[in-house]
Amino acid sequence: MDSLIKTSPDQLATRRGRSPELAVIVPTFNERANVAAVVERIAVALEGIDWELVFVDDNSPDGTADAAWDLARQHDNVRCIKRLGRRGLSSACAEGILSTNAPFVAVMDGDLQHDESILPAMLAKVRAGADIAVGSRYSGEGSSGEGLSPIRQWGSNLATRLSTLVAGQELADPMSGFFMVRRDLFVDVAPQLSDEGFKILLDLVVTAARKGTPPAIAQVPYVFRQRQAGESKMSPLVVLQFLGLFLSKLTGGLLPTSFLLFALVGFSGVAVHLSVLWLFTSVVPETFIVAQILATITAMTWNFFLNNSLTYADRKLHGLKLWTGLLGFYVVCSMGGVANISIASMIYEARPAPLIAGLAGALMSSVFNYAVTRIFTWK
Ligand code: GDD
Ligand code: MN
Repeated sequence: MDSLIKTSPDQLATRRGRSPELAVIVPTFNERANVAAVVERIAVALEGIDWELVFVDDNSPDGTADAAWDLARQHDNVRCIKRLGRRGLSSACAEGILSTNAPFVAVMDGDLQHDESILPAMLAKVRAGADIAVGSRYSGEGSSGEGLSPIRQWGSNLATRLSTLVAGQELADPMSGFFMVRRDLFVDVAPQLSDEGFKILLDLVVTAARKGTPPAIAQVPYVFRQRQAGESKMSPLVVLQFLGLFLSKLTGGLLPTSFLLFALVGFSGVAVHLSVLWLFTSVVPETFIVAQILATITAMTWNFFLNNSLTYADRKLHGLKLWTGLLGFYVVCSMGGVANISIASMIYEARPAPLIAGLAGALMSSVFNYAVTRIFTWK
């Protein structure tokens, strides 16, 4: 208290903190060349509005965070959160949103592809009562302009159609990474959101709808621009994570995305197993058992590394943990194998249908392996 009494009223005002009306969250990974322009353009677009800008950087090797902190020194309404040891667009956005107390928050890419000049129109929509205002490339005057290659355009259209299935309502551009939302709505659903991949908006809409009434959504058209500098982080991994999220939402959230990816990896492991087995037995036909053991180890190793970089990309093991994780994975999978065989033979004894017994055994071991490695390996 003492120190407070000694400070001037002006200093006190800053100590009470700012509470702008709008926070713009900008996730960044290797966007050093773009961040200054982002601040400049947002400042122009939001003239007359009380706003702040939060960069959320995942320790970009190009030093984006340093550039963002430089900007923060020049503008008292700009800040940067730097996260260590983590990657992910969705989780970066979530952390940025949870770091502000502005009643309205926008998420916008840091490569200038999103047209910041529609921010005031989006704000008008949420002020007027919309829960979410989506910057949409596919309604009214909006378009994906020069921003997408033909193949990405095709993928984007397909994903849009799939999303309508799970969103439960017409959404012109569910894949949009550009939207504004009431902060309290976001805080409410945040614990249930997936932290994988790119598709935070779709996840937000679906999760909010499941918790009560479907959110009131307004669309604000815009033209998607070409990326300014640097390159896109979209990858096959991001696409797979989207498919996982889609399947997970389709099953009513019953199956977590990571289980679906884990199962997918498991399927690929079966192919690896059979290939090694076939290869080995065709070279040395008399040693089936040796071939089977070799194939099993190869498939387990394959599954481990694929899970580590795909299913659990957000909590990837490195260094020593990678190797102890692999050993643990062998142990868990062996127990899973025992579970597989005992369930299968139990069922087979009750009813001698090999396919059903085999499938039940495989299902049993996948659930077992998933659950146990989730607790011990990729916690
Ligand atoms: N912090 C953080 N961590 N930021 C990331 C990460 C990450 O792992 N990955 C990407 N970003 C940042 C980028 O630096 C950029 O500011 C923004 O997220 C979008 O990433 P891009 O790599 O430019 O994605 P895109 O242009 O291919 O996709 C964008 O447009 C799509 C519409 O077609 C995104 O907005 C998608 O969400 C959107 O669906
Ligand atoms: Mn982009």
